[in-house]
Amino acid sequence: MRVVPIEKVESQMQVGRTIYGANGETLLARGVALTPRYIERLKELGIVVLYIVDESVGDIQVDDVVSEKTRLEAIKCTKETMENIRLNPSLNLARINEAVNDIINELLNNRDLIVNLVDIRAMNDYTFGHSVNVAILSLITAITMGFGKDKLRILGAGALFHDVGKTAVPENMLIKTTPLTDEEEELFEEHTTIGFHILRKIESLSLQVAHVALQHHEHYDGTGYPRQLRGDEVNEFARIVTVADIYDRLTCGRAGRARLSPLQAVELIIANSGKFFAPEVVEHFIYTIALFPVGTLVMLNTQEKAVVVETFREYPTRPKVRLLVNSQGNRIIPPYEMELASNPDFYIIRILEEGEL
Ligand SMILES: [Fe+2]
Repeated sequence: MRVVPIEKVESQMQVGRTIYGANGETLLARGVALTPRYIERLKELGIVVLYIVDESVGDIQVDDVVSEKTRLEAIKCTKETMENIRLNPSLNLARINEAVNDIINELLNNRDLIVNLVDIRAMNDYTFGHSVNVAILSLITAITMGFGKDKLRILGAGALFHDVGKTAVPENMLIKTTPLTDEEEELFEEHTTIGFHILRKIESLSLQVAHVALQHHEHYDGTGYPRQLRGDEVNEFARIVTVADIYDRLTCGRAGRARLSPLQAVELIIANSGKFFAPEVVEHFIYTIALFPVGTLVMLNTQEKAVVVETFREYPTRPKVRLLVNSQGNRIIPPYEMELASNPDFYIIRILEEGEL
């Protein structure tokens, strides 16, 4: 299967990966053939890309870094907890702790620790899927930075709850596609302090978790908010969550903004290393992302067209590819595979748009 932007999706194309709602309910099951009505509905839900079954890519499996079950359970209990936590500070967090532990254990057992999946989610459920994504990205980064389990647990909870203060921001402001007014901007920025005050009252949580909510919009160079902290003044967990948060927002195409490819988002993060982001976090974060995820169609310097079939942490720009079309534009039959890492004369020059194959 491969990723197709929703505007390029056509009737009869087959869904390559089940699409879930925030409560784990199936919105559209894998294998279903699309109809104009389904496509309309997906657009209404704010879904911007879709995994589609593709013959030329055929057998290629795109694996998530954590299991679907763990991810869905985490989304579900984050939603429940975030909706209740404000009014009920004595809330039992056992389920959230368990969800965080499950994610950590799966990641620690995963040798690759590289994110190949583009997360597909409906925009009305945005906050919860986003929180779980930020948690997973933050945790992978921290594992590669050498964090132990105790610190990973604090980071996981901090990442899941980093935007808990948004439960106090009016919903229509969060989904607004036009720029915020100065007043709205001010109100929006308060989600950091509001989140801090919600979380610090919860005895079973480390105070550090509250500090992640407070500090996740601070910048390394002191230009962030709310306190303009700089460098090491920013909490070490918040420094990681900041990068994961921006990456997920850039790549999801939310609120009318263009969706960046993993490569474009990583380039932007590298460009802002030492400005917005802590360099030692960026250094580790960029290896957690597959720049050319499995299923991406690419053009090689030889003008041959290929699809990415495997990615490697050590060689972010040199995945294994399957060659599909030769430089004259003819199908290669049968297609053959090549490790770009061991073929230095071959390299990717660009990502192909839908229909270019
Ligand atoms: Fe935020």
